[in-house]
Amino acid sequence: MITLAKIKNHPQVLEFIRQTHITLKAIGYTEHGLPHANLVSQRSKDLAQEIGLNQRTQELAAITGFCHDMGNFFGRTQHHYWGALLFHQIFQNDFSPREIGLITQAIVNHDKYTVKLTNTISAIIILSDKSEMRRSRVITKSLQKIKKDIHDRVNYAVTKSALKVNKKKKQITLVLKIDTNFVPIIEYFEIFTERMAYCRRAAAYLGYKFNLVINNFKLL
Ligand SMILES: [Fe+2]
Ligand SMILES: [Fe+2]
Repeated sequence: MITLAKIKNHPQVLEFIRQTHITLKAIGYTEHGLPHANLVSQRSKDLAQEIGLNQRTQELAAITGFCHDMGNFFGRTQHHYWGALLFHQIFQNDFSPREIGLITQAIVNHDKYTVKLTNTISAIIILSDKSEMRRSRVITKSLQKIKKDIHDRVNYAVTKSALKVNKKKKQITLVLKIDTNFVPIIEYFEIFTERMAYCRRAAAYLGYKFNLVINNFKLL
């Protein structure tokens, strides 16, 4: 059975993530390279474990998290489809039909906000990916440039981000620490309302309530 360790060392996966990083950097996006792949992978595994999913599902969530953005080098707007098709092309003989179906659907679902969720791994990836905000995702170094782009500004202002699970109370909470000298909290809502609504639906699919806490204030 193919493992996360093998996927993380697969030459094509690594090359696609490398080219994705170059492509998105060129059009001024936030970091989508190995650090993002590794963080989403780890966060997905942790989340799957904390809500009590079995070991294999944890592994599949971690694999999907690592590969979810590798289609970006084909184009940003449909990257979720490219990523799923690439994954299928590389690994179609390494997973059961059921597993390859779940993984590829979860890769597509991570950026398809209107979809009706029918897959646990999709819900895990949405929560891990949409909560992955941090200062080091901002690639451009000039503060002036950062201030001009709302995505850069908002990511740059995040000094801490964690996804916390309370299994007893059935709550998943995104805890953010934001430098409000850099960006007012209202800007989060300008660009993250849709994301947070998707996280709420993903949490609900898992049987959890989604909370958002920014600088110790409960906002959702
Ligand atoms: Fe993506
Ligand atoms: Fe992502």
